Amino acid sequence: MEFQKSVPKWATVIALLCLGLAHAHTVIVYPGYRGNNLHTNGTVEEADGLGAASVNGSYIFPYGMMWNYPCGGMPTSTNRTKWPVNGGAVSVQPGWFQGHETAFFYINLGLGTVPPNMSHPMVDPFQIVGPTNEPYPGTFCLPQVPLPANISVSPGDHATIQVVETAKHGAALYNCVDIEFAEPEDVPEVTRDNCFNSSNLQFEFIFTTSSLQASDAIRLPLSQRVLSILPLLLAGLFGYLMM
Ligand SMILES: *[C@@H]1O[C@H](CO)[C@@H](O)[C@H](O)[C@H]1NC(C)=O
Ligand SMILES: *[C@@H]1O[C@H](CO)[C@@H](O)[C@H](O)[C@H]1NC(C)=O
Ligand SMILES: *[C@@H]1O[C@H](CO)[C@@H](O)[C@H](O)[C@H]1NC(C)=O
Ligand SMILES: *[C@@H]1O[C@H](CO)[C@@H](O)[C@H](O)[C@H]1NC(C)=O
Ligand SMILES: *[C@@H]1O[C@H](CO)[C@@H](O)[C@H](O)[C@H]1NC(C)=O
Ligand SMILES: *[C@@H]1O[C@H](CO)[C@@H](O)[C@H](O)[C@H]1NC(C)=O
Repeated sequence: MEFQKSVPKWATVIALLCLGLAHAHTVIVYPGYRGNNLHTNGTVEEADGLGAASVNGSYIFPYGMMWNYPCGGMPTSTNRTKWPVNGGAVSVQPGWFQGHETAFFYINLGLGTVPPNMSHPMVDPFQIVGPTNEPYPGTFCLPQVPLPANISVSPGDHATIQVVETAKHGAALYNCVDIEFAEPEDVPEVTRDNCFNSSNLQFEFIFTTSSLQASDAIRLPLSQRVLSILPLLLAGLFGYLMM
């Protein structure tokens, strides 16, 4: 019984993974993004080494659009997603480019229709560990990203959520989604189909050395130690199911 029930779920996850890989056009799965900026055009010589340059009256992005602060080369969009006034889900596919076997993530808020900056962090930075340094499929989802401390908003207010992902070498990819705040009941709830963590991704908190005591690791309760290897166990299970 239990096994029969779980098959469609795994099938869905695998289908979504394959779907994502085949379409290759999204990074913020939920609540969406400003548009497809996963491309590169023009040459480094034409841009004289700049990340973005205007040549013959149109922009070129010889290193790739996504590397441009603040929103990966995309201007403010008019198709805003409704997002809850008390915070909500953010789901990301981190593995579109090489160099993200490990990556730091930042999720920030910019206030207003055309935000003056994206300088309001919503979560502490965290690290993910992916399966390989080559592009890989997989999604993670934070179901309840809160508003930044000391910021309150009303339904109808405009803002932009910025997701920053640094590669192993420290360069950062940018992607944004423009939102309009709404009462939670006016925003469709996320489900296990659009908000889940793929088993090939692990999470790490980022510690500062001054707050990290060697003894802390030993004092972790057993449940937390088990939790910290859970992704590994799941990865193993996933591998087993794939065989
Ligand atoms: C907004 O429109 C662009 C262009 O059609 C599309 O690529 C993007 O997915 C849309 N974003 C949202 C959040 O609907
Ligand atoms: C700009 O125009 C020049 C002259 O027509 C052409 O050689 C060059 O390829 C164009 N560059 C781009 C990026 O379109
Ligand atoms: C390069 O891509 C950008 C973004 O899609 C586009 O606006 C621009 O016209 C393109 N440049 C050229 C020279 O094709
Ligand atoms: C960033 O934007 C906020 C408004 O969202 C403003 O209050 C703040 O002064 C700005 N910070 C900087 C460093 O420009
Ligand atoms: C929020 O406001 C309180 C009271 O003004 C202040 O003590 C606190 O430092 C603020 N927190 C942040 C993250 O700005
Ligand atoms: C995914 O993992 C992160 C980090 O452990 C966790 O905060 C989040 O709630 C998880 N997402 C889901 C949908 O379980």
